[in-house]
Amino acid sequence: MKILGIESSCDDTAAAVLDDELVLSNVLSSQDEIHTRFGGVVPELASRQHMQSIQPVVMDALARANLNLIDIDLIVATQGPGLIGSLLVGFSFAKALSCVNKIPFVGVDHMAGHILSIFLEDPTPSFPYIATVVSGGTSSIYLAENHTTFKLLGRTRDDAAGEAFDKVAKFLHLPYPGGVHISNAALSGDPDAFKFPRAWLEKGSLDFSFSGLKTSVMNHCNQQIQQDKDLHIQNICASFQEAVVDVLTEKTILAAKKHGINTIVLGGGVSSNQSLREKLKKKCDTENISFFVPRPAYCTDNGAMIALAGSYKFKETGETSLEQDVYSRSQLS
Ligand code: KG4
Repeated sequence: MKILGIESSCDDTAAAVLDDELVLSNVLSSQDEIHTRFGGVVPELASRQHMQSIQPVVMDALARANLNLIDIDLIVATQGPGLIGSLLVGFSFAKALSCVNKIPFVGVDHMAGHILSIFLEDPTPSFPYIATVVSGGTSSIYLAENHTTFKLLGRTRDDAAGEAFDKVAKFLHLPYPGGVHISNAALSGDPDAFKFPRAWLEKGSLDFSFSGLKTSVMNHCNQQIQQDKDLHIQNICASFQEAVVDVLTEKTILAAKKHGINTIVLGGGVSSNQSLREKLKKKCDTENISFFVPRPAYCTDNGAMIALAGSYKFKETGETSLEQDVYSRSQLS
């Protein structure tokens, strides 16, 4: 089956073509340059840029796959969660292509894409597994029972991990999106320089909270500034990153132990973070748990994971009605 996947949930316009699970093309048009001067995504600018990029990105994905629309068996688009204006561009474009060309259409949850993106790689995990999805919009832990059944075990109660990275980076005058700039600065910093708080929440909780950590970093910086002291950016970044990585690692392992699962999959933009990948892998090795994480291109938003998640959903439940609308909050419970 040849599948076209379209992703436009936030600030990246992405499209990919798959031949079953084989990626034939994976195209992404980033809006980072547009939003960086505002230090975060401006929803209206994001939707307008999607309008400009969607057609060239989709056509490019088809061309790189050496295919035309008539060769496509299924069109998939992200239905939610995300920015409504952004989602509507990709979702409506996909529905129009489907309607005019009489190609089946499926709308998928963006989180399902992240949970399943590991199936774009080889080797693949076996079910059931714990999937920790950490991005700019979410930090959640799921129990993946099969290709279409996911149980939410925990989620952030305030900022997502990527959001905390981006907000701390903005505070430190680092460019947007800040995660990669913080992790680069952390490379030459001491992770034990400052003891920033870890929010473990109630005993056994699989929920996250990163807003207190973010505030603590800001308070530390403000105190230093008030005392006319220089900020040690590398140490601040390394200590902040260490706190986020500690919590993500511990809670992911706890989820596996609590549910008797011996496979862990990491996904979402923050899983590009080298420190997180290394620490979780090390901890999994000690605990005799198999660990999987896709390459960074499949961690950040991409059309390939959307096409893949859509193909599994199509096999399970068939087409999505063209009357369906987009949604802003994840519907995976
Ligand atoms: O999944 P994604 O591409 O988009 C959504 O948010 O849906 O994730 C983007 C997030 C941003 O917050 C970005 O700062 C973060 O992932 N990120 C990182 C790294 N690379 C990207 N965070 C920490 N370390 C990184 N190396």
